[in-house]
Amino acid sequence: MSGAGRTESRSGRIRTEPPIRTRALTKQYGDLNAVDGLDLEVRPGEIFGLLGANGAGKTTTILMLLGLTERTSGAVRVVGFDPARNPLEVKRRVGYLPDAVGFYDDMTGRENLRYTARLNGLKGQAAEEKIETVLDQVRLSDRADDRAGTYSRGMLQRLGIADALVKDPTVLILDEPTTAIDPIGVVEILEMLRGLVRDRGVTILLSSHLLTQVQSVCDRVGIFAAGKLVGIGTVPELATRFGEGDAHVEVAFEGVSDPATSDRVAGFLAAIPDVAEVRRATSLLAPWTLVVRPPDSAIRVREAVLAVSAREGLHLTSIRSVVASLDEIYTKAVRAAGLASGSHRPSGDRPAAGGRAVA
Ligand SMILES: Nc1ncnc2c1ncn2[C@@H]1O[C@H](COP(=O)(O)OP(=O)(O)O)[C@@H](O)[C@H]1O
Ligand SMILES: [Mg+2]
Repeated sequence: MSGAGRTESRSGRIRTEPPIRTRALTKQYGDLNAVDGLDLEVRPGEIFGLLGANGAGKTTTILMLLGLTERTSGAVRVVGFDPARNPLEVKRRVGYLPDAVGFYDDMTGRENLRYTARLNGLKGQAAEEKIETVLDQVRLSDRADDRAGTYSRGMLQRLGIADALVKDPTVLILDEPTTAIDPIGVVEILEMLRGLVRDRGVTILLSSHLLTQVQSVCDRVGIFAAGKLVGIGTVPELATRFGEGDAHVEVAFEGVSDPATSDRVAGFLAAIPDVAEVRRATSLLAPWTLVVRPPDSAIRVREAVLAVSAREGLHLTSIRSVVASLDEIYTKAVRAAGLASGSHRPSGDRPAAGGRAVA
């Protein structure tokens, strides 16, 4: 049966269907498997990041989720519907920010949104109120009556998100929402997306080839390479799976300036169980790094550092666990899947300043 995200199981109990689910989803262009047997599940109220180099198949996946391109094989359910069979039902509930947003330059931001509202059957006072709300949500109210042609890329992107919000979607799909935007604009957009999840409970799927941005905003990440999902989970989960097989704990001390004290501290730290290696600070102010193996001993190691510092009178000034960066995880996941990370990299698409690209 179809319904808005709910299905009745055989036992008669209603269970909530994930807002987005694909099974063995495949898209071929001639000989090329642009998307290759994709199993994806996005949970309600999360920000899910589809991370992959240019040409990995992100846009093709998104177009299939929206019913904008036909799949070759496999199954898709979005908000309880098959987008190939019920594209209008999906379109009504899912807001979409394409990778290249287009607006009428000589119309104001507000007029552009009015146009979209009308296409979605919203008119008059209801439309005006909705437009005011979404402009506020994307923090564009003060520029709403300027022509869209005068907007920066970041503002156009925010107008694009406002545009996707006009129909009150339960799911937002954003294709590379932060590409080619300056770093401040990126932070604004990512904070805004967090706010939308918090205040309106929307579910967000975004695609990106920029590691740091995905790492900072997404609850879960799917690592996508050559049409295949090669890893899925939270960044810490992926780190455990694809990291070096160990965790890092950083510790800093005051008054460890002479070699004798340094040796003494190193001795205490090396004696802690599951500390595989002690890397001393390279400068007076830098932290020391404890390599912890297995990685899930990191909490116990932190507690042991606190205990030993108290017992031995060491002046511990900071302590924290460091998760492997997504950068490192991405490279390992792609390599583990037997795919070359650069194999599908077309040219001509530069990352925004301040962002690191998957390459
Ligand atoms: N309409 C199309 N016809 C033929 N090949 C295509 C078409 N669209 C995309 N592709 C190819 O499919 C692969 C995946 O592209 P795409 O989904 O755009 O990747 P991404 O969005 O991750 O950069 C690429 O190799 C691309 O060249
Ligand atoms: Mg794309």
